[in-house]
Amino acid sequence: LFGFKRKVSGLNFTPIKPTDKDDLVLPNGFRYDVIASYGDVINKKGDTFGYNNDFTLYFPINNSSDRGLLWVNHEYTSDLWVTGKKGINGKYTKDQIQKLLYNQGGSIIEVYRDENGQWKMDKNSKYARRITGLTPMKLTGPAKGSQAVGNANTVQGTFANCSGGMTLWNTVLSAEENYESTCEDASLNETHYGWIVEIDPFNEKFEPRKHTALGRFHHENSAMGLANDGRVVVYMGDDKTDACVYKFISKNKYVPSRKQANSDLLAEGTLYAANMKKGQWVALTIEAVREKAKGKPELLGKFKTQADVLVNAHEAAILLGATPTDRPEDVEISPFDKTVFIAHTNNSNHGNIHGHITRFVEANDDLGSLTFDFEIFAAGGRQSGFSAPDNLTFDSEGNLWTVTDISSSSLNKGVHSTFKNNGVFVIPSMGKNQGEAFQFASAPVEAELTGPSFTKDETTLFLSVQHPGEGTVDKNKPTSMWPHRKGDNQPRPSVVAITGFKY
Ligand code: FEO
Ligand code: CA
Ligand code: CA
Ligand code: CA
Repeated sequence: LFGFKRKVSGLNFTPIKPTDKDDLVLPNGFRYDVIASYGDVINKKGDTFGYNNDFTLYFPINNSSDRGLLWVNHEYTSDLWVTGKKGINGKYTKDQIQKLLYNQGGSIIEVYRDENGQWKMDKNSKYARRITGLTPMKLTGPAKGSQAVGNANTVQGTFANCSGGMTLWNTVLSAEENYESTCEDASLNETHYGWIVEIDPFNEKFEPRKHTALGRFHHENSAMGLANDGRVVVYMGDDKTDACVYKFISKNKYVPSRKQANSDLLAEGTLYAANMKKGQWVALTIEAVREKAKGKPELLGKFKTQADVLVNAHEAAILLGATPTDRPEDVEISPFDKTVFIAHTNNSNHGNIHGHITRFVEANDDLGSLTFDFEIFAAGGRQSGFSAPDNLTFDSEGNLWTVTDISSSSLNKGVHSTFKNNGVFVIPSMGKNQGEAFQFASAPVEAELTGPSFTKDETTLFLSVQHPGEGTVDKNKPTSMWPHRKGDNQPRPSVVAITGFKY
């Protein structure tokens, strides 16, 4: 019996054991289809799938869980497998820079399930296209056209796209994270990167935009919800050691009938950072920053306008008393009780080697509140069986699907030995197994599993397999050959669809 409508979500699986096998290992009864790999042609124009796929987000076509668009982030490239090494002058050539920028950003691909239940990419799609480090983008919000961004109203491209989120109006928010090296390699202005980027996968005419009101830092992701009064709230992590947790609250209220025009809600509002000692959300305003900077000419010179605060959000946040934390990565809002989950991946500066997941409880269960309480929801380590939590996504039974990102240099060594390769863990957020982690998947050698997202019916889980064989030094001796394509001579970051194949 071929039961391809079986739900993937929930706890209906026998957890796997940690393994160092060079494959995407799943529990009995589940399979994966490789949908798109680095270099694959995605449309009739001949555009190709970028490198190091990360965040994925499924957009149903006609409400279907069998055909839709898949947004995929492409975070960074590789000298060995994409651009080639820099010259003896320490610089890439023009062609290499084109490759570097083309293979980051995002892909919009059309995916479907065929009559045998297998997921495939539809290369004849009228929607499939690339967003790259070369695509023009407009700025919105207070920093647009400001001196802080070199008076720019539009900028070139997006890159370092790590995770992201979905808006309430069916567009994607993609997060620019570690932008520095690409800026340097391509001689681009750093203040044009490190933003939250919005794209409408269905509508090419919706100009890609960077929302400066949401601040500039090492954006991991975005999680959007509504305050009790209807304003839009966006939670964000800043993935850097000793960095803060943020939320943005729009000035105006969400009006569903305005559809994509709601995008302008992200141009005006207040950015807050969390003071975890006081349980307060601190507003990052120029007035507050200048008050703190009194008597410090250097700071007064740096912070003159709200644009300066947004462009230098981390510095402003610390100045105003926000709490430095252990690398806040993904943030998700529980659809059940509106508590907010934050993956603090690790921080070797002060001994948090395995990381933990924090749960914020907003006052009055209102995402618009300016006070909160928090607890450690789950801690990485031997007992829980996971280390370095990173991306998160909820299923409809309240389970937090958590992927891990132990760095390639730490994998299978020292205190990381018992975890073997990176994995996917399912952690119930309520009920009798609350906070317990059950391993659902194990990654190929030196890969990180990123960007988990479900179809609406939860019979399919999309997942990125990022940087398999990352530690390879010699092209002729790759440490991974996943996805083990016949005739291929290199490992390829790929997006897969995971489904259940028997009842
Ligand atoms: Fe790109 Fe913080 O992971
Ligand atoms: Ca991440
Ligand atoms: Ca997520
Ligand atoms: Ca990470």
